[in-house]
Amino acid sequence: MSNIAILEIDGKKYEFPVIVGTENEVAIDINKLRGETGAITIDPGYKNSGSCTSNITFLDGEQGILRYRGYSIEDLAEKSNFLEVAYLLIFGELPTAAQIEKFENDIRKYTLVNEEMKNIIDGFPRTAHPMGVLASLTSALTAFNPKSVNVDNEKEMYEAVCKTMAKFLVIATWTYRKNMGYPLNYYDNTKGYVENFMRLMFELPTGPYKMNPVVVNALDKLFILHADHEQNCSTSTVRMVGSSHAGLFASISSGVSALWGPLHGGANQAVLEMLEAIQKDGGDVEKFLAKAKDKNDPFRLMGFGHRVYKNFDPRARIIKKAADEVLADLGVDDPVLDIAKKLEKAALEDEYFKSRNLYPNVDFYSGIIYRAMGIPTEMFTVLFAIGRLPGWIAQWKEMRVNKEPIGRPRQVYTGSPLRDFTDINNR
Ligand code: CMC
Repeated sequence: MSNIAILEIDGKKYEFPVIVGTENEVAIDINKLRGETGAITIDPGYKNSGSCTSNITFLDGEQGILRYRGYSIEDLAEKSNFLEVAYLLIFGELPTAAQIEKFENDIRKYTLVNEEMKNIIDGFPRTAHPMGVLASLTSALTAFNPKSVNVDNEKEMYEAVCKTMAKFLVIATWTYRKNMGYPLNYYDNTKGYVENFMRLMFELPTGPYKMNPVVVNALDKLFILHADHEQNCSTSTVRMVGSSHAGLFASISSGVSALWGPLHGGANQAVLEMLEAIQKDGGDVEKFLAKAKDKNDPFRLMGFGHRVYKNFDPRARIIKKAADEVLADLGVDDPVLDIAKKLEKAALEDEYFKSRNLYPNVDFYSGIIYRAMGIPTEMFTVLFAIGRLPGWIAQWKEMRVNKEPIGRPRQVYTGSPLRDFTDINNR
């Protein structure tokens, strides 16, 4: 591969450097394009544009490969745990036993959320969607932690990481408790991070909460699978907002909002709602497949297709296995799950889906496990956000430490040329 790309505009040739990544991904560095040629590129949805170089996550959509810091997602899901993976993503290496113990203890130092946050939660109607509340509460954390992090100071950065990991988990579960009208719960520093999620959600003052290790284990795995996915919509948002030197909480809050959309993390909720709609309609999966294929119908098969994975989603494979284990352990017999299986089989055999490489993605199966665990549908995307948090932090940190410039794309203006102002009486 030549290390120079040549572009010809109006008969004049320009040379641009070619960058090759660790896994031989090729990119043309057009940093000087506008300066030298006066032209820009246009790439809606950034399907061909790299916004940065990154050492965090490698993803090969054609081969279905996902690696965090060089470790395969399959190995991490089987042999590691969520906090270890968070450490790996954020700090670059798997922690030693002493490092992970310290990390967990340091997170515990920040698990108490300011009581005044409860006043903010009280301002929301109980019917508010948990993702909207979570975005607002994350942003509100800025008010209680107004000092912005000096990213060049390792100790400050480390403290900010621990604080974010601690408080985000607690407020995420508070969105559910508010919804249910339950008293808000506190983190138990004698228990693990993922165990705490279950307790924070479901433990009631009226009696002890019985933890199911199979569920905790599956949830830990799900969080690992969601932990990072390079420059997806919410992560790019976090990097973009952070590039203006907005703080970590403000940047993460914008990531939560981006994740909420049904084409991104909101798809896990949309999948379940779709399956329930199919059930209500009589359970005819072929009818809904036909709707998804009809170009005049806006309906899409939720949980199918991916911008990057055009072969299979490696996360979906792991989750499918975990889903089978959890469902067997919990002895779940749910007609909605039968519809999911039928739909999956029919879509995988359908020419429209096959020819467009549309496979079940991570969200198709995650919703099914969450439902079996008793997690309400509206909380599904919140769980995605908890899993994605380490990735957002790692990417924000990398962007700031690398001193990336403020994100500010260009455009091609296609509106009206200059025209004379028309007086209001003559319009
Ligand atoms: N159902 C029916 N048709 C689809 C679907 C779908 N779920 N996804 C893509 N297509 C069709 C699309 O209409 C187009 O057809 P044609 O070539 O005839 O015009 C073709 O497949 C290519 O689709 P695209 O919209 O150009 O692909 P994209 O890369 O822009 O979109 C996507 C990717 C994930 C937004 C899309 O597949 C989709 O909307 N899926 C459903 C929502 C979903 O499950 N999202 C979760 C993604 S995984 C979690 C995450 O990381 O966020």
